[in-house]
Amino acid sequence: MSEHRIPRLVRTSAELLDATTELLDGRPGSRREGQRASLGLVPTMGALHEGHAALARAARESNDVVVASIFVNPLQFGEQADLERYPRQLDQDLELLGSCGVDLAFVPAEAEMYPAGPPLITVNSGALGTKFEGAARPGHFDGMLTVVAKLLHSAAPAVDAGFRCYFGQKDAQQLVLIRRMVNDLDFPAEIVAVPTVRTAAGLALSSRNCFLTDSEESAALVLSRALRLLKGRAERHEALDLDSAVALVTGQPLVTLDYFEVVDPATLEPLAVNWRDTPFTGEALVLIAARVGSVRLIDNAQLGC
Ligand code: PAF
Repeated sequence: MSEHRIPRLVRTSAELLDATTELLDGRPGSRREGQRASLGLVPTMGALHEGHAALARAARESNDVVVASIFVNPLQFGEQADLERYPRQLDQDLELLGSCGVDLAFVPAEAEMYPAGPPLITVNSGALGTKFEGAARPGHFDGMLTVVAKLLHSAAPAVDAGFRCYFGQKDAQQLVLIRRMVNDLDFPAEIVAVPTVRTAAGLALSSRNCFLTDSEESAALVLSRALRLLKGRAERHEALDLDSAVALVTGQPLVTLDYFEVVDPATLEPLAVNWRDTPFTGEALVLIAARVGSVRLIDNAQLGC
């Protein structure tokens, strides 16, 4: 058995506030000695893997107190079946969080997060939330932003402490939307992006990868292969020739491509130059989504950043 401590489990926002205040007050070398303590929040839906561990470790490295939340948010699931089959494994998740040095696990029940049932007032993700993943999963980003807003309120430190919140670069559109919400609605939190963690073969880690068969998992590698191809061309300042990368993906029979686009990293708008045949310069984000078996996979690559 591992020697780490399991994080303390808190189930309500009130308990979370008490526990974070107590921990922040008790941290030697920060508040007591007149320095500004900080709280790091890692929001998750559980079914944790090394990608989440990277978020938790990044939070541990930079903050006095680290909270991870585990809540499978019904508002961001379109289909009931998808919500029901989302993997749940609390004991394993707490072990992993403990091994990353997380202090508190906030694991609210649905009635704690939505005491009056589905909320009447939600966060609207705007036009940015209706493209790419938002087009495939209508309402998903409104539901995601609504719960992130609530988690930011619940975890915001009561004491005068810094507040950072950690998200994976793998969900690039989610990250852009959260940054916009935090800026547009003045949340007092710093958003920290953590690079995507991959299997040795290159597949981006996702809680849904467990639904892939072995042959689907090897077929899915074509996504990261196509992204690497573009990244290599961008690094060499060659033309991106997106069409050839698209052909690589569509040539894989187990993979049904949804979108594969080169966009502006901050707005996700199409870029004026598409580098079909001109040398790549500047910065861009490549977004890809595909269905492999019963699983929708997304991945992305930052070019020139
Ligand atoms: O990325 C996720 O796991 C979820 O979308 C999040 C940010 C925890 C909100 O439910």
